[in-house]
Amino acid sequence: MKSVLFSRFFILLPWILIVIIMLDVDTRRPAPPLTSRPYFAPYSGGRGGARFPLRRGGPGRGREPRNESWPRPPPPEPPLPTIYAITPTYSRPVQKAELTRLANTFRQVAQLHWILVEDAAARSELVSRFLARAGLPSTHLHVPTPRRYKRPGLPRATEQRNAGLAWLRQRHGHQRAQPGVLFFADDDNTYSLELFQEMRTTRKVSVWPVGLVGGRRYERPLVENGKVVGWYTGWRADRPFAIDMAGFAVSLQVILSNPKAVFKRRGSQPGMQESDFLRQITTVEELEPKANNCTKVLVWHTRTEKVNLANEPKYHLDTVTIEV
Ligand code: UGA
Ligand code: MN
Repeated sequence: MKSVLFSRFFILLPWILIVIIMLDVDTRRPAPPLTSRPYFAPYSGGRGGARFPLRRGGPGRGREPRNESWPRPPPPEPPLPTIYAITPTYSRPVQKAELTRLANTFRQVAQLHWILVEDAAARSELVSRFLARAGLPSTHLHVPTPRRYKRPGLPRATEQRNAGLAWLRQRHGHQRAQPGVLFFADDDNTYSLELFQEMRTTRKVSVWPVGLVGGRRYERPLVENGKVVGWYTGWRADRPFAIDMAGFAVSLQVILSNPKAVFKRRGSQPGMQESDFLRQITTVEELEPKANNCTKVLVWHTRTEKVNLANEPKYHLDTVTIEV
């Protein structure tokens, strides 16, 4: 009887040992990170596509003890430059729809700060409520366009973009600027996520093509040997910078070191605002072409059709008030 028990024990012993070893190996695997990275991290993608930095020291050097229980924390990544998107916006039937599309895009971009500037005498309830639920770091400003400038044929959103610039300068004026990039994001355009990846690396002023603008399928800076040498455009080719507002980004440092650069009402015609502004902060030779030497369209100057409200009732209104 005793010998039977002994022989069973010795048959089982190796198996018990194998199970113990396997359980031990399993518990030494690194635990998954507790904090998830954003679904889309344009900056790390932009630097060679590696989502995580490679370990320093390389493999096979034998510096790390083999039986280390936890992986070392990865070396700190350089701070991600913040993208500041200045969006002028005004009250109209499609406003909330436009802002919703925009927020859905911006929410997927890491380290983006939305500066929403209402063309209004006060912050509206609709926009305040919207921003509070948008799930984005944001700043809500307002400034009304003077009545005399609200005419067809005159530039739009001059005062609102300047209010955004003033906020940025005030916020960063007293300290050494953190890395940042400014971009003017009108509320009706369409922005690809790749665009933010491209603009994030702006050193001074960067440029790229814009789709569906100027009476053409696209406009773009012409690039030779990595430098902008002219403009492909069908409209006012004499513009010093023949580019739409959606076609460039400026580093925060350039905005701060040119404190007087603003959008001007006096003498500025529609379509010339971009040139008038860019002339104050850069030269064509200095521009940094993005989007594969300006051969890819990553933003579209879409315009929303004026909505038909011909059947809105004058009497017998709905029994509830609904925000649209
Ligand atoms: C083109 C350019 O893409 C704009 O950047 C430029 O401001 C504009 O021309 C101009 O003429 O000044 P476009 O599509 O014609 O754009 O202009 P909108 O999209 O109607 O307006 C540009 C931005 O200003 C939008 O974000 C819009 O919400 C805002 N806006 C427009 C106001 O804040 N107030 C207004 O009265 C009109
Ligand atoms: Mn527009």
